Amino acid sequence: MESTFAREEEVKTKPLPGHVGIIMDGNGRWAEGQGRRRLDGHREGSQSVREVTRCARRLGLKALTLYAFSSQNWARPLDEVTGLMALLAEFLSKEREEIMTNGIRLNAIGQLDKLPVLVRGPLEALRKESRGNKGMVLSLALSYGGREELVSAARTAMEKAKRGELDPSKLDADTFETFLWTADLPPVDLVIRTSGEKRISNFLLWQSAYAEYVFADVQWPDFRAPQLLDAISEYQRRDRRFGLTGAQAKPAPP
Ligand code: IPE
Ligand code: IPE
Ligand code: MG
Repeated sequence: MESTFAREEEVKTKPLPGHVGIIMDGNGRWAEGQGRRRLDGHREGSQSVREVTRCARRLGLKALTLYAFSSQNWARPLDEVTGLMALLAEFLSKEREEIMTNGIRLNAIGQLDKLPVLVRGPLEALRKESRGNKGMVLSLALSYGGREELVSAARTAMEKAKRGELDPSKLDADTFETFLWTADLPPVDLVIRTSGEKRISNFLLWQSAYAEYVFADVQWPDFRAPQLLDAISEYQRRDRRFGLTGAQAKPAPP
């Protein structure tokens, strides 16, 4: 079998997605399938986060956004929510050094004020510390929902209009985008979902308007560097047209 290193080199010879978003799904089923507790699946899933982030960084992706906890996930049983929050806090403290030595900028999107101090504290600290890093931006979508984000952006627009800072008749997509939590991130090129489910589950609704989707049939704890490379290879075989005809969208021959 070809080594991961050789495959990375091969993938790097073709245009890479600038920004990849991942719906990290299937931790619970991974654990339940082995007669283990759901939280064991989340713990194993955090190992996938490490490996996938390292691989994305080696490839030179500009941005990686990981859907770690949705606005709707708060309604899960309290012990699962508490366990997930503790795992997140542990992840942030353990990964601090690697994030800093690799020049990664840590970012977070979502209703962050809902997070417990246990998570918000180390998250804000690392966000601040890594602010000047020029490598990949790693965004954690935490307490995130695409609809919640759109409502928040609409609220910002309305408040600006009320203060006379925005003329409603001049509001266009480019301006609206600056009110989203992802305003400083590059366009999303590829969204990957693991676990075999084929749905978006409230992830990056606006941002994925022209993203390519790749659905992986493995649970998140089994998604590692080789699976990321498979997904990026699939992306590289797609034709993106952005509403144009095939002939228009093809790059002009040299
Ligand atoms: C994804 O795995 C992680 C979170 C949503 C927090 P799940 O916990 O959704 O696992 P399944 O989909 O129930 O197997
Ligand atoms: C989406 O997974 C959210 C995250 C991966 C954090 P869910 O497990 O919450 O989504 P559904 O319930 O399958 O739609
Ligand atoms: Mg799930």
